[in-house]
Amino acid sequence: MSPSKISVLQTNVQEQFCLETRPDPCATVIFGASGDLAERKLFPSLFHLSRTGNLPKSFCVIGAGRTEMTDDAFRKRVAASVRAAFPDGDEESVDRFTALFHYQTGNYEDPALYAALAARLKDLGEAFHTRNNRLFYLSLPPALYVTVVRRLGGAGLSRQRVDGLGWSRIIIEKPFGTDLDSARRLTREVGEVFSEDQVYRIDHYLGKETVQSVLVFRFANVLFEPVWNRNFIDYVQITASEDLGVGHRAGYYEGAGTLRDMFQNHLLQLLCTTAMEPPASFAADRLRDEKSKVLRSIRPFPVDQLDRLAVRGQYGPGSIDGKPKPGYREEKGVAPDSRVETFAALKMFVDNWRWQGVPFYLRSGKRLARRLTEIAVHFKPVPHLLFEPLKPTDILPNVLVIRVQPEEGISISFETKHPGPKLCMSLATMDFLYEPSFGRPPEAYERLFLDAMAGDQTLFTREDWVELSWSILSPILEHWKSAPAPAIYKAGGWGPAASDALLAEEGHAWRNDA
Ligand code: BG6
Repeated sequence: MSPSKISVLQTNVQEQFCLETRPDPCATVIFGASGDLAERKLFPSLFHLSRTGNLPKSFCVIGAGRTEMTDDAFRKRVAASVRAAFPDGDEESVDRFTALFHYQTGNYEDPALYAALAARLKDLGEAFHTRNNRLFYLSLPPALYVTVVRRLGGAGLSRQRVDGLGWSRIIIEKPFGTDLDSARRLTREVGEVFSEDQVYRIDHYLGKETVQSVLVFRFANVLFEPVWNRNFIDYVQITASEDLGVGHRAGYYEGAGTLRDMFQNHLLQLLCTTAMEPPASFAADRLRDEKSKVLRSIRPFPVDQLDRLAVRGQYGPGSIDGKPKPGYREEKGVAPDSRVETFAALKMFVDNWRWQGVPFYLRSGKRLARRLTEIAVHFKPVPHLLFEPLKPTDILPNVLVIRVQPEEGISISFETKHPGPKLCMSLATMDFLYEPSFGRPPEAYERLFLDAMAGDQTLFTREDWVELSWSILSPILEHWKSAPAPAIYKAGGWGPAASDALLAEEGHAWRNDA
């Protein structure tokens, strides 16, 4: 019997309880303020916070970068980025917002930049009543992190709560290192200047509303936690697929690849959020302890089985939505014989009581059929089916899908009786869609900015987690250095055939068409 699909839209949502984040007054220094991330994400996020009344009342921004610019020229750039993101933003609110912005030109190596920043922070701190609280944002190529951190230390800008100074915090963008050794070195260097409670390592996936809502879904409902284990769950699929290619980021991507770019951070965070034990409280370190415990329980990849458990691929030419797309090696800035993976899929196990024997399949890739990030929890078949001659395996087991993006939401599929005199079963899905219920989810960076201003590290990655994540992936990275080049997959497909084989050996398949 082939099951039909019925959808039930549930939108009866009532607000019950809120935990408020109260950001402190502060000055934010954005290094790399003339760069792409600042323009596409950071300025629009700050603007939306300002528009919704969520920025601290006493607040200002200093952009720092090599590009020569006056305050006025910088404000025009900020205004342009905000207008592009919010075409409905009225002139007055854009002007009020850009008046908070200032600019300091300088070379990141040059101590003079930091002396100038210290002086401006002092003046602007007084003018904007920021209580000398300083938030530094490294929106820079990772090769500059150590230099900037050292110079900040040299200029006394990491000092806090002495001589009338408020707090000093630093937000560091990913990637945090390129392997275990470099991550350790970076941790050591940063640790010489800032203590761990001053360091906010960003993973923007943790700021996504739907990722945060996994915690509420799991730990604020009684229905799901009792079945959230090996007794009821057959396997878990985590997908983060993109239809976009490498774009203009070949310079970075050629030295990274999918495993470093998406797995070491986003995918492993999604895995931890799904697999972690309930923390005793929502305090940052209690939650982060549980995530680190998940990573400590990951079964190490046996070196002789790496080709079976870790698949990689690189996109070749193809088409998406009927439009032809070039292969990765034809992209601007990519070596014609590049061996960098643009797709990876892993089969992983969490060796603890809760998850023993449950495979977690993770995959991510560029230029795939569509953009989709989801966590799909596949339950086991019923133990006995009374509707003879059907066998338990003839009906589809329940699947719970947490859709991170797009069409953010949660859906549960289950069998129902199809109306009529015969006993026919149909698969129904109960969908909760985020947007019709709550409106468009805010940009992940908004939440992360606010939390850093409030001193809440819950959604930031802790030092031990970073090292654990690199140590899990190190054997694969090492193996791929000398393994045959990645298989080429067609742009617009779902990656190399070996990715399907990863699941097929246990009779499973990726949810490509769901
Ligand atoms: C970034 C990666 O961290 O995440 C990019 O460097 C990737 O390569 C991006 O495209 C995906 O983020 P999102 O929010 O679009 O899923």
